[in-house]
Amino acid sequence: MATVVEALAHPTPVLAYFQEVRAFTERLCEPLATEDYVVQSMADVSPTKWHLAHTSWFFETFVLAPHVPDYRPLEPAYAFLFNSYYVQAGERHCRAQRGYISRPTVAEVYAYRRHVDAAMGELLDRADASLLERVAPLIELGLQHEQQHQELLLTDIKHVFSVNPLRPVYRARPVASAPWAAPVAWLPFAGGLQEIGHDGAGFAYDNEGPRHRVYLQPYQLADRLVTNGEYLEFMADGGYRRAELWLSLGWAAAQEHGWTEPFYWERRAADWWHFTLSGMRRVDPDEPLTHISYFEADAFARWAGARLPTEAEWEVAAATVPRAGNFVEEARFHPAAAEPGAPGLRQLYGDVWEWTQSPYVPYPGFRPAAGALGEYNGKFMCNQYVLRGGSCATSRTHIRATYRNFFPPEATWQFTGVRLARDA
Ligand SMILES: [Fe+2]
Repeated sequence: MATVVEALAHPTPVLAYFQEVRAFTERLCEPLATEDYVVQSMADVSPTKWHLAHTSWFFETFVLAPHVPDYRPLEPAYAFLFNSYYVQAGERHCRAQRGYISRPTVAEVYAYRRHVDAAMGELLDRADASLLERVAPLIELGLQHEQQHQELLLTDIKHVFSVNPLRPVYRARPVASAPWAAPVAWLPFAGGLQEIGHDGAGFAYDNEGPRHRVYLQPYQLADRLVTNGEYLEFMADGGYRRAELWLSLGWAAAQEHGWTEPFYWERRAADWWHFTLSGMRRVDPDEPLTHISYFEADAFARWAGARLPTEAEWEVAAATVPRAGNFVEEARFHPAAAEPGAPGLRQLYGDVWEWTQSPYVPYPGFRPAAGALGEYNGKFMCNQYVLRGGSCATSRTHIRATYRNFFPPEATWQFTGVRLARDA
């Protein structure tokens, strides 16, 4: 798919791209009942209704208000409710209290989306070349932003359903054993002077650049993700009870939260089960491990005699791998086992976000944009770790080799997993 900027000369494809991404958000909501849209099951989770409104607020605030002189918001008070964290865009509602808000209703939020969609359609209809040139990068950013929220919408509704004793099913999926995960093969990489970061061709977030040189020691990467079966061995070997395997902060977090198994796992008699978007499932030992914190990923890697990759190691390796995998379009909504016998790096894209050992910090020469949009990424560059590759909830048109996702090290409600690395 062409990016908005590439499609500049033709407003119609831009509108089609806009409508496609907006419609996909709403398709993801089709399995939901009205009551499901409103619940906030923890502070990190936002209600579905909020995601639908906030993504519309983004276009309203950053595209329509500054570039359409006669644009009138449907309801000016929505700016307070649906601004997430943009301090320069004005006051905002408390994040942890998004679930207290029963109005606007779900129907009114859909009407808000229609209002914004109509105004965006008119803008693209009427815009001359110079206006298009100014708004195209903002529309692209708004659509990439909406795709990020599509993923959050899924991980958030998973958490909402998980705390419901009825354990609702978002999407039914036949029970089938995963193919046997063959032992890991270690693939060598030479290291040396390499370049990482986005080169400026096509869309990227500001945090992916500038492209710059890094020096890597020779290293090896596992050819597939860590499986549930491998993690069960770590647990059986006392992984959660052996302080020597853990970072000090990780050990403290594990004690504080009472971690004794991955998030969403549950013991039933002799077996482990876990909550999935297809309801409760027996843990399949050959499927990729997911919903683990950075701290658990790090402790597991130490137990396994390996380590987490750095983000530069990951990106240099990924530059040689086609961007294909188990993405949200597969509608599996769960990581899939590695294809048996396939050569090279498997599961690099899709399935689970891979924790790296790299702190989320600016690349050399990074400058956030001026104004509120400069708050998109840059102000979070402290106390978080970089994850790479996308997940089963990420769109295939959203991920890139240079993409830097980031979460605090104790976060577990995203589709997070592990690929091991080691020194050559
Ligand atoms: Fe957002």
